[in-house]
Amino acid sequence: MAKDKTVYVCSNCGQESPKWIGRCPSCGEWNTFKEFTVRRETVATVTGAFHRTPQAGQSQSRPVPVGQIESGEEQRMDMHDGELNRVLGGGLVPGSLVLLGGEPGIGKSTLVLQTVLRMTDKRVLYVSAEESARQLKLRADRLVPRRDGQPVDRDRFLAASGCMVVCETSLEQIFAHVRNEQPQLLVIDSIQTIMTETVDSSPGSLSQVRECAAMLLKFAKESGVPVILIGHINKEGTLAGPKVLEHIVDAVLQFEGDQHYLYRILRSIKNRFGSTAELGIYEMRQDGLRQVSNPSELLLSEEHEGLSGVAISSAIEGVRPFLIETQALVSTAAYGTPQRSATGFDLRRLNMLLAVLEKRVGFKLAQKDVFLNIAGGLRVTDPAIDLSVIAAVLSSNVDTGIENGVCMAGEVGLSGEIRPVIRIEQRVAEAAKLGFRRMLIPRYNLQGFDASKQKIELVPVRKVEEALRALFG
Ligand code: TYD
Ligand code: MG
Repeated sequence: MAKDKTVYVCSNCGQESPKWIGRCPSCGEWNTFKEFTVRRETVATVTGAFHRTPQAGQSQSRPVPVGQIESGEEQRMDMHDGELNRVLGGGLVPGSLVLLGGEPGIGKSTLVLQTVLRMTDKRVLYVSAEESARQLKLRADRLVPRRDGQPVDRDRFLAASGCMVVCETSLEQIFAHVRNEQPQLLVIDSIQTIMTETVDSSPGSLSQVRECAAMLLKFAKESGVPVILIGHINKEGTLAGPKVLEHIVDAVLQFEGDQHYLYRILRSIKNRFGSTAELGIYEMRQDGLRQVSNPSELLLSEEHEGLSGVAISSAIEGVRPFLIETQALVSTAAYGTPQRSATGFDLRRLNMLLAVLEKRVGFKLAQKDVFLNIAGGLRVTDPAIDLSVIAAVLSSNVDTGIENGVCMAGEVGLSGEIRPVIRIEQRVAEAAKLGFRRMLIPRYNLQGFDASKQKIELVPVRKVEEALRALFG
């Protein structure tokens, strides 16, 4: 039997070291190294799939010229969910390990269970280490899809699904079930609640999470069975058992959204088999998550004719353009220090934009409370919505609504210039498609862009003042 080994791992970034160090050489954090023991006989005996141990000096691998490597399209597993397929880069790659992270209660279990229930052509093993089988069944009962507006027959639907459920927390037992059931897809809900006997520390601890994930990775690679791990995010917004997991897995998907709103966004943070620019949008309903294939229409449903403090922006999140509503409320600060608050938008960026308004356009906002909200509970990182943030703030400040049918896109620089944004054609096309009449765009974006074909009037602007003049006269 191989000897146990003691290693020290940085709890912040996963850097490993044979001895304890005070400051992590990789991420620079202090006091993050934790000791743990790994028994070295582990993985091979557990998965039972590994018999050939190479002799010393007798390598199994062999270098081949790059030109001779077979490429060809990877055969991907269809998840029967357009949004999820897209975020994964066209389906699940065989043998891949995918981590789905998100805050508790956001809908991770719902998303995965709903997906596997609809994969009638695949044998799926759903390992629940958090909920009892009864709880899972109650959830599954709600997740019956609709056909022509009517829910399909529940019992028939559940009977047709190839999903097996087991409530188990021991990884060794889970592998035993895998050997018996031979699933084509394995789901672990969640990585923080399972444990392996090879490491003695409690479930959810760094060493457990790391070792379990490494063993599951080895299983996935050897068997070709894709594994989906569900993982919780801690308060700081990082995956608990932090970066360690991100290094191990092939793809990290993050499920986010405000629990009090209906919309959920599935983002790809890392993907070895696809782009990380992809994004999926869902709506949480009584009967599970519904794919939102046209976000703009949902986000713009409200009537806001003549209301002040509302500006529409043509934003791009992921690869899709959509129109979103930025709402601002500016009022005189009643007590002392004025408040600034932003929902769905970076507060520091809002402060920066307010400073630009003060300094470059001469609006006095120092004694005003400013509240900003992105409608629908979305969190937007696209800098092109700067212009609509400024427009909404000003519209509220002067209590004048922006004309209907007008939208905008543009990043605002520190000197008040409107900077070009990426993929302007798509933004303009989306706005035109939704019936907008006028759109403010950065002047620089007009270069090499044939605007004559668009059924929308484009107003090129170079500075914040010009934009505000175009909007408010
Ligand atoms: P859940 O999937 O348990 O979250 P997680 O696994 O990320 O912790 O989702 C829990 C929330 O979703 C819960 O507040 C109830 C809500 N929900 C619905 O609104 N509709 C549904 O059909 C289901 C199953 C859950
Ligand atoms: Mg859950």
